Order: sequence, then C-alpha cells, then structure tokens
Amino acid sequence: MTLLSIRGLDKSFAGARALAGAALEVRAGEVHALMGENGAGKSTLIKVLAGVVKPDAGVIEMAGIPVAIATPADALNLGLRFIHQELSVVPHLSVAENIFLGRDYPRRWGLMIDWDGLNNAAAEVLSGLGVDHIRPGRKMARLTVGDQMLVKIAAAFGDAGRTAARLYVMDEPTAALSAEESRRLFAVIRRLRAEGAGIIYVSHRLDEVMELADRLTVLRDGATVATREVAGLDKREVIELMIGRSLAEGYPPRLAAIAEDVALKVEHLSTGMLDDVSFEVRKGEILGFAGLEGAGQSEAIRAIAGADGGHDGTVSLAGKPVKIHEPVSAWAKGLAFLPRERQQEGLVASASIAGNVSLPHLDDLLRFGLVLDRRAEAEQAVELGRKVKLKASGPRQKVRELSGGNQQKVVFARAIAGDPQVLLLDEPTRGVDVGARYDIHTLLRQLTAEGKAVVLASSDLPELVYMADRIVVFRGGKVAATVATAGLDQATLAALCFGSA
Ligand SMILES: Nc1ncnc2c1ncn2[C@@H]1O[C@H](COP(=O)(O)OP(=O)(O)OP(=O)(O)O)[C@@H](O)[C@H]1O
Ligand SMILES: [Mg+2]
Repeated sequence: MTLLSIRGLDKSFAGARALAGAALEVRAGEVHALMGENGAGKSTLIKVLAGVVKPDAGVIEMAGIPVAIATPADALNLGLRFIHQELSVVPHLSVAENIFLGRDYPRRWGLMIDWDGLNNAAAEVLSGLGVDHIRPGRKMARLTVGDQMLVKIAAAFGDAGRTAARLYVMDEPTAALSAEESRRLFAVIRRLRAEGAGIIYVSHRLDEVMELADRLTVLRDGATVATREVAGLDKREVIELMIGRSLAEGYPPRLAAIAEDVALKVEHLSTGMLDDVSFEVRKGEILGFAGLEGAGQSEAIRAIAGADGGHDGTVSLAGKPVKIHEPVSAWAKGLAFLPRERQQEGLVASASIAGNVSLPHLDDLLRFGLVLDRRAEAEQAVELGRKVKLKASGPRQKVRELSGGNQQKVVFARAIAGDPQVLLLDEPTRGVDVGARYDIHTLLRQLTAEGKAVVLASSDLPELVYMADRIVVFRGGKVAATVATAGLDQATLAALCFGSA
C-alpha cells in the first residue's frame, strides 16, 4: 500500500533551487532510503513534509488523499514523526523533560507535575527502544551526542496521547552514533517496519543503506533521478545514480614516503578521561585513532588542542614542548583542530562561510595588523571551498543556509586554512557524501605529501585501515595497542577495539 506520495515538489531559496520537481513514494512496511550528494535537497524535502519549509509547488498525498502540511502540528496529526539532521535538544532540561517536551506532563491530582511519573514514563519509552543505560533524571547536557540522539528518537517515537505514527522520517540518524548505538537503532527501525510503519531513511553510509533499506530514491540537484529495489542493486550503481558519474573505487593511494622527523610527540597525556597516553606522528604520516565511542580518541585530540582545559603530560611540536590551553593557541602554533560536533562548537551558523573559515586565522588576514582584509578572506574561502567541492552561492553565504554535509566541508576548509603543520581531525568525513569523501581523502594525501602530519580519529574502520599508516587503538582512556595498517584487516581492528583480540 502506498503510504506517502510526493510529486512535483519545488522549492527555491532566494533564487537558488533546492527542490526541482522532486517525487517520492513510500509504502507502508518499508524502509525507503533517500539518497543524494550534499546539497541534493534531501533535508529540504523532509522539512517540507515536517511543515517547517513551505514549498513553492507540489502535491503530497497520504494513503491516496491530498494533504496540506502548513505547520509541524499538521505533520504530527497526520502521523508523521521526525528525527532531523540537526539535533535540537534542550540542554538544561532532563532526559525525561526532553522526551515529553511540548506534551502534557503527568500531573498529580491534576495539579502538580508528577516528576516520578514523568521519569517512569520516560524510562518506559527508552526501554521500549532497548535503551536502559540513560537515566531519565539526568540533564541532557551531560549526555554524549549519541545518547542525546537516542533520547530524541525516544521523544519522536514515544506516542502517548498522540495520533499513532504511520511514517518515521530520519535524516542521518547514525551520523553521531557509535556502531553499537546504530545497531540498536536498526533493531528499532526493523520493529517499526514489521508493525507496518513506513520509514524514510537518509544516510551517506552506503553499507548501512544496503543493509537496511528495501527501496531507495536518489535525488540530484533537487530532482528525483531514480527509485530502485535495493535487492540486486550494487553500491557502484547507487554512487553513479547519485553523482552522475562513476567514482574511482576505494581510497586514493599514498603519494610520498613518510619523513623521519617527528612532527607531533605526545608523552604521558592524562586528564579525567585519559590515562598516560603517548604516541608520535611523523611528517607525512597519517596516524589513525580507533576505539569504541568514548574510549579516548576524541578526548586525546581535544586535550592536545586545548579544547577541554588543562592536562598532564607533554606535547611537543617538531621537537619543542608547547603549552596549549585553548584551541586559539593551538592554531597559532600550527596545529589545526577539527572537532567532531560541528553544530555545537565547530561553526558560527549565523556567520558567512568566509567568516567561519578565517575564524582562527584572523591574524594572518589583518592588514598592517589592524583591519581585516575582507577580500583576502573571501578569496581564501573560495579557494578552499573549491578544494573541498563546497556547494554554495558564494563565500558570503551564511553557514546556516548550507546543507549539513556542506557545513562539514566548511569546518574542513578551516582546518586546512592557515597552512598548519599538524592536523587533528575528529571524524572529518562524517555526513559527507561519497564523492566529497573521496575528495577529502585525496586532499589528505596531498597534505601529507607536503610533509604535514595528520591524526585521524574515525569510527569508520575501512577509512582507518586504508588511509592511516599506523593506528593507535584506545580502550578505557588508555592506549591499548599501536598497529601498522600494512596487512591489517578490519576484523582484527574491530577485535582490538573491543579488546577481544
Ligand atoms: N534556508 C536556506 N537558505 C538558502 N539556501 C538553503 C536553505 N536551506 C537549504 N538551502 C540550499 O538548498 C540546497 C539543498 O539543501 P539540503 O539541506 O536539502 O541538502 P541535503 O541533500 O540535505 O544535503 P546534505 O547531504 O549535505 O545534508 C543546498 O544548496 C542548500 O544550500
Ligand atoms: Mg541534509
């Protein structure tokens, strides 16, 4: 049965066409993947369905009946539920309050809010999703991003007192989840499908889509190019449908040998989360960081960049010990830092692309040390934007107007601006489409050929195995192993992360 049918959907933002006659048909009881490059129009289509963006033209039908979705309440009443690409949580409220946000809280004698009742109800919703490790009374701000995502999912899925859900729409739900959390989510999705709900699923992780989806629809430049059954389809075809050409498969090869000189040396690094971490990276080398979520990879990068305040131990750049207490001084010392959570700390959404790219490099752009050279700033942004294939109307476009993947490219452009000697990259390709991902990998090869050193933390095991020269495996805040990637397979690496090797 056709649950949702969209035809001829158009939407322009200030003359730029985000949707150009897009069509999509979703059946009850199927997972339908919505695919396309960064900026193809996926999130815009979803925002139209959610009543957040008003389309210029188009027809939306639910079970064959044309519907008007003018507000988020309309969408909710039609039985639509959303997990948007940008996580919007209320950090100072509890988990339970976030789950029941905008709904009637349980009350005692119809008067006082029944906090125990609220927490119990929240715990019930969470455990219905197989999530038992999150306390409902905990402040949202204290949760990992992965756990915040699970709470958002619980909030969207907990149905008490609302129209029964018929269609779940998830825009890159796994982008911030660990492998384990993703598996949990997939189990939930499969259960919803078995109960007859439709699911629209957006992800740039092709393996995940091939595993989970029944059918997929590909958008290119705002138009639908194809809808296919996933069974019998191979990844290469999907990539071709998305980017309109075939892609050099896999990963770009190394271009130059690794130098002898050590670019970054870290000795006995300890913080509340890290215990005596030591490693070194040579010029031209890519050192991978692997581990389960929260094992210390991110924490080590953040500690070196001075993102979380003080630490014990020594950090040396090109043989000289340096003191770094905040990211600004890291940049000044030739150390670039790409944080994992671009929305929360990576970007100033209301500022322009150029402004964001130059943010930590303002000193270089000051003319006579006084006025900011706006032209140089814009030129730099255009040049770097080209390198990462940024899709934008120009360097002055506001970051908030960019698609999610293009925002990620702005953070990456900033990391390579200002000619850093060492790059600390935490999940640099998360949310980035397959084509752009290949471009970022190619760029990393070029940078290392120029003698830059790269630390690459990633939850994507193939990316680590193919791009890194050596991998530091973290477990419980300690270095559990350091392995060369020559001859290393993914299964061995996964076992090392779990501590079962
Ligand atoms: N509020 C806005 N103002 C101006 N342009 C916008 C706005 N929202 C989206 N766009 C533009 O519409 C196009 C489609 O964006 P959309 O977010 O739908 O892409 P997407 O397919 O979700 O990409 P990604 O995979 O990167 O998330 C992009 O070029 C984007 O810059
Ligand atoms: Mg998007």
